[in-house]
Amino acid sequence: MSDTLTFTIDGKECTARPGQNIVDAAKENGVYIPILCHFEGLTPAGTCRICTVKVNGKCMAACTTEVAEGMAVENETPEINDMRKVILEMLLVEGNHFCPACEKSGDCELQAMAYRYKIMAPRFKFTFKPRKLDASNSKLILERNRCIFCKRCIRGVLTEDGKHVFAFTKRGSEIDINIDKELAAKITDEMAQEAMDMCPVGSIIRKEQGFAKPIGARKYDSKPIGSDVESKAVNK
Ligand code: SF4
Ligand code: SF4
Ligand code: FES
Repeated sequence: MSDTLTFTIDGKECTARPGQNIVDAAKENGVYIPILCHFEGLTPAGTCRICTVKVNGKCMAACTTEVAEGMAVENETPEINDMRKVILEMLLVEGNHFCPACEKSGDCELQAMAYRYKIMAPRFKFTFKPRKLDASNSKLILERNRCIFCKRCIRGVLTEDGKHVFAFTKRGSEIDINIDKELAAKITDEMAQEAMDMCPVGSIIRKEQGFAKPIGARKYDSKPIGSDVESKAVNK
């Protein structure tokens, strides 16, 4: 088998390694495909569908689909962009998001994507569902109002002996993210920071570290999400 696969994204010729998924291969070729549940180093879960592309005309999650030789991927089309916009709008109305008061503002992937996809006002009604904040842990605050149920924390925050610190409880519209109080009591400052960084939104917040980086100096304050990936293509 060849070590290099060739494929196209919106007509642009790209290369990938066998076994590589479309999101990661696109990134290496300077093409941005939005992700919310996918996270470097974690096995893709395919839960959010924001990375949906068309592969040979069929909708697929780019994070869970491996590149195949000769594949034709559609990414930035009006239809796909509108589908992504719909997903973002649904996420925004389903939670309770008040960006000016959010510790993650400027570093939040959901907020940055809403700017990228030019969302002014969602086309759906806000649900304003009451969700309880959990501040019982000494290092973390779990702000459920902002959770988008991406499962990154569940997959990525584990104790040294492999136990999951976060878990979902209930199902369907009653689903909630929870933190195991006993395990969470043992987490280190580094783990707490990793959990906060892993969460794409402001749902996992470190205690007593508020606004350490000022608004205006944050990741997406000066550079739109995806621009770091796309600048690689410009510099090629
Ligand atoms: S999590 Fe993101 S979208 Fe939600 S309030 Fe915070 S900054 Fe805004
Ligand atoms: S707390 Fe954050 S990382 Fe965990 S499921 Fe919710 S949004 Fe995802
Ligand atoms: S990033 Fe692919 S399904 Fe969420």
